[in-house]
Amino acid sequence: MRPQDLIEKKRDGHELTRDEIAFLIRGYTRDEIPDYQMAAWLMAGFLRGLSEAETVALVEEMLYSGDVLTHDHVPLPKVDKHSTGGVGDKTSIVIAPIAAACGVAVPMISGRALAHTGGTLDKLESIPGFRTNLSLAEFKDVLARCGVALIGQTKEIAPADRKLYALRDLTATVPFRPFICASIMSKKMAEGIDGLVLDVKTGNGAFMKSFDDSRLLAEALAAIGRRMGKGVTALITDMNQPLGRWVGNAVETFESIEILQGKRLDEDFGKLCLELAAHMLLVGGVETDLELARQRSLETIHSGAAMEKLREVIAAQDGDARVCDNPKLLPQATHQQTIKAARSGFVAGIETDEIGRIVMDWGGGRRRLEDKIDYAVALHIHAKLGDEVKAGDALVTAHFNDESKLAEMQARILAAYRIEEAQSQPEPLVKAIV
Ligand code: URA
Repeated sequence: MRPQDLIEKKRDGHELTRDEIAFLIRGYTRDEIPDYQMAAWLMAGFLRGLSEAETVALVEEMLYSGDVLTHDHVPLPKVDKHSTGGVGDKTSIVIAPIAAACGVAVPMISGRALAHTGGTLDKLESIPGFRTNLSLAEFKDVLARCGVALIGQTKEIAPADRKLYALRDLTATVPFRPFICASIMSKKMAEGIDGLVLDVKTGNGAFMKSFDDSRLLAEALAAIGRRMGKGVTALITDMNQPLGRWVGNAVETFESIEILQGKRLDEDFGKLCLELAAHMLLVGGVETDLELARQRSLETIHSGAAMEKLREVIAAQDGDARVCDNPKLLPQATHQQTIKAARSGFVAGIETDEIGRIVMDWGGGRRRLEDKIDYAVALHIHAKLGDEVKAGDALVTAHFNDESKLAEMQARILAAYRIEEAQSQPEPLVKAIV
């Protein structure tokens, strides 16, 4: 078999066999197939589509590209949560400690920033010293000690996704259901979990912009997990504006800490955290009633138990846990500029993916894999959908280090906001449960 023949086959719209998908994924994972050939195959698949059988083969080949873990040494239900990607979407940093504080172990394998969306790993790495590249033995040890461990794909676990995730990011092949399913489920099924809560984003900041596409993605992800014997709940949640008040890396870590301090629990980010955490408790079987699960999640915040878990896991992964009390220990930007509304009215639309791209382009993301992230770049979102603003009111405050881009970014932020005379109702936060 030759890679170029399989690229040609897919380019011409034909279905690949199981063996052919295996050849591609194994060859690429072992560095025997170069990036340029895999990139060509990804684009051919993206444009021509993948059949159900090809998708199943891709998920399984990517899953078994590395070890599939078990955690018999941890006598607790093991449940994880994964989001399909959004802007300002930092719920993992809040809900993993909540679930752990309720007796659910969370062996979480996350990703880095992908396209315009932020990544949990990058946010965590803004904490001085925090290591997401634990060895397998360290991962298991932290999980046993803290009930939660937070890492990225490694050479041992989901290595195919480790390479393909980065390649898709750089080849405009991210927003495609079969690839998203294979990427997410290959990581999640390798973690050694009993159950999974999926946060499938829908809207202009998500990879799936329409509700129908998001539902198809949620159903496909849930079906894969259930076929593998896992308890799966998928929530389809709104991503038509940044989640919470901050977009960036260090600031999102601190905003998560603020939720664990009990702040702004009545706003979208706090509410979504409690909802997702509650579903994790149900999937893990430590609660059977959703309302009780919500209350129990909330109690871990009020008692400080969830914050204590976050401190424990940060310290166990060599991070400076003092960030939980002192945000100044996180990277800070040297400049601030507030962007103000040009006219009065109500916020009727925010181009959420553009907000994500602005943070990336100002240094908060990577253009190439080897790029260093500026963790301090941030947008503070003052005006959210449905808010009334007067001309001159603050829409966003930008925190940045690179002054040369200020004029361009200011214009882009202003253009990302649509202000109209009539007030429209914001979309519900949780739109469906699959
Ligand atoms: N999250 C992932 O892990 N992979 C994707 O492709 C999209 C979101």
